[in-house]
Amino acid sequence: MTDLNPARILGIESSCDETAAAIIENGSNLLAGSVATQIDLHKKYGGVFPEVASRQHILSIYPIIEETLQKAHLSWDEIDAIAVTRGPGLAGSLVVGMNAAKGIALARNLPLVGVNHLEGHIYSSWIRPDAADRFTPPKFPVMALLVSGGHTELNLMKGHLNYQRLGATLDDAAGEAFDKVARLIGLPYPGGPSIETAAIEGNPSAFNFPRARLEGGWDFSFSGLKTAVLRTVKQLEADAVEFPVADLAASFQEAVVDALYTKTIAAAKEFGVREIVVAGGVSANKALRAAFMGQGDFPVHIPPLYHCTDNAAMIAAAGYYRFAHGHIDSLDVDVLPTWPLR
Ligand code: KG4
Ligand code: ZN
Repeated sequence: MTDLNPARILGIESSCDETAAAIIENGSNLLAGSVATQIDLHKKYGGVFPEVASRQHILSIYPIIEETLQKAHLSWDEIDAIAVTRGPGLAGSLVVGMNAAKGIALARNLPLVGVNHLEGHIYSSWIRPDAADRFTPPKFPVMALLVSGGHTELNLMKGHLNYQRLGATLDDAAGEAFDKVARLIGLPYPGGPSIETAAIEGNPSAFNFPRARLEGGWDFSFSGLKTAVLRTVKQLEADAVEFPVADLAASFQEAVVDALYTKTIAAAKEFGVREIVVAGGVSANKALRAAFMGQGDFPVHIPPLYHCTDNAAMIAAAGYYRFAHGHIDSLDVDVLPTWPLR
């Protein structure tokens, strides 16, 4: 529950390869959501092809928004504000969502709320999951681990919209490391789910890959790990040995999970938080979820799988808190956000 004013927010997300819309009531209740994924379009390129992504967003954006309103059985008069991803993301993709949001805001005379994509991921833990009969949102102060394709960060949140960035990756993001290592060991895009599946049959102790501890701070680094996998792969090739793909995947995954988990728990203790939030595409990883759920020191919030990767419900949820706190943007808002947004 929240003591803020009630409101229904329509969220729009188009920062990468998903075109999505969703309607959230009071920052928590998901009334409807639709996602058009482009994964199959980009698979043959081994990653997201930006121009193809923008064009597909143009085709999908209005049908997805209309479908969402219909699913919720709502008319525009019953929507209080439009929230839209400002970035970070692919510029050409962001512009499609932003222009759709601006057009609707202008035509329907609705307030426009720009949401940082990373903030959106964090707020996915404030959405009541479909299957939950009991749901309590995270209690501040919160330690938020954000692990996506482009970012890996630890943020201390002392209240809504209040972020103190304690640390971030010095090189590759966790998701990026999954994607690059998947390619190295011959697994398809997107790398995270491919590695997770391959790792099921593998031995996580088969290879002793490094964990960059970076003592004395809260930053992360994954490039050394990626290079260690590359070196191992080259050695296996030189020895003409068949790739133990499952073992490589499991050992790599174990090293990433260990680095993320260990630092987050240490930061949570150091800063005396009440609860932990884990968010972003990599939070879909079952080994990472198991590590956090297996400890008893802190209550941990990780969204259901369908809200870990990109979606618009998270944008609508964060948009609600922005709207309810009076953060409304003008129609000339850009798609070049700073983080955290003020
Ligand atoms: O948050 P997200 O959907 O998009 C960005 O904001 O970047 O995250 C995408 C990233 C990709 O790098 C993808 O490989 C990774 O999340 N990912 C996973 C899993 N599912 C998605 N990584 C590990 N295990 C997964 N199950
Ligand atoms: Zn994302």
